[in-house]
Amino acid sequence: MDMSPQALKTYTGQQAWIGSDMADREDEWLHRWTADEIAEIEVAVEASSNQNILDITLDSFPLPSIEATLTKNKTDILHGRGFSLLRGLPVEKWSIDQTARAYWGLGVHIGMPISQNSKGHALGHVTNLNLGLSKLKTRGYQRTDHLPFHTDTADIVGLFCLKPGLSGGDSLIVSSTTIYNELVRRRPDLAKVLMEPLQRTFVSENPDDSERFVDVPLFMPKGKRMIAHYVRGHIFKAQAIPGVRPFTNAQKEALALVDNIADHPDFFLDMQFRPGDIQFLCNHTILHSRRSFKDSDDLAKRRHLLRLWLACKDGPRLPKWIIDAYDSGHAFGRQDGYYHPAIPLCVPLQAT
Ligand SMILES: [Fe+2]
Repeated sequence: MDMSPQALKTYTGQQAWIGSDMADREDEWLHRWTADEIAEIEVAVEASSNQNILDITLDSFPLPSIEATLTKNKTDILHGRGFSLLRGLPVEKWSIDQTARAYWGLGVHIGMPISQNSKGHALGHVTNLNLGLSKLKTRGYQRTDHLPFHTDTADIVGLFCLKPGLSGGDSLIVSSTTIYNELVRRRPDLAKVLMEPLQRTFVSENPDDSERFVDVPLFMPKGKRMIAHYVRGHIFKAQAIPGVRPFTNAQKEALALVDNIADHPDFFLDMQFRPGDIQFLCNHTILHSRRSFKDSDDLAKRRHLLRLWLACKDGPRLPKWIIDAYDSGHAFGRQDGYYHPAIPLCVPLQAT
């Protein structure tokens, strides 16, 4: 196969959208729950109240009239535009237990929750823990500062907004397929550079503190898709670790161009979360970012999102790079987050 820059093609599927266009198509990606749908979710929450959240399955959380809506959204997320926003769950009147049950119950209709860190958290709390900005083991979701565009390590990431914070904190998403197309148009030589593997570390999430690296390119063609994988924080942190290949000048230039294209208002879609919003994204075709935010001094009013990482049996076909790097054998050949055989999954109801 001719891999010269001139031979690179662009992609025209539903994944290749631009934000300024998507902003005008809200009716396609925004679902507002009706009162009847909310009542059905509350019935399922109540019916599961004696069950551990971790044990709730699709069968024990029936949603007969919502099922078709969830299936359509799941198809759109995995095989269409790559994202959906589900709006209007009454989180103000729900306890954290009810909220977590509702989220988990909706989540298992879309995929299988997987571990998000070395503690086995299958339900994550995205909130400011006042941790150091540049510490090797601090994750971006524990801070208030701007998070550059990146992917997570799962088929789907879901964020459920409980409290949006005082100001800022916009969620920005961008089509990684569009970024690739733009790279091919502007600098096909750099597009080619990013089809070669980058080294990432798991430094913050190895329970036994052993070092582990994987090699995955940022852009990987697979069938009719361009699959992207950009665990940006862990790729850049790896550069400080002895033995990791330093970036070449071409890689530095290529990554800067990706960051630059992603963070341009022509390309990204800006979402401001309201309490009760759930955003689901497909990491393989979407990069996400968060603007910095101001938090309340009152701990009870801090910005607080719940996160799910979902493995999806019916997700897009994955490149061998991703399978080799992340298939633990416990998520039917999909990425399995930070699975570790000695760490059982858990569902914490507060940030730790
Ligand atoms: Fe993320």
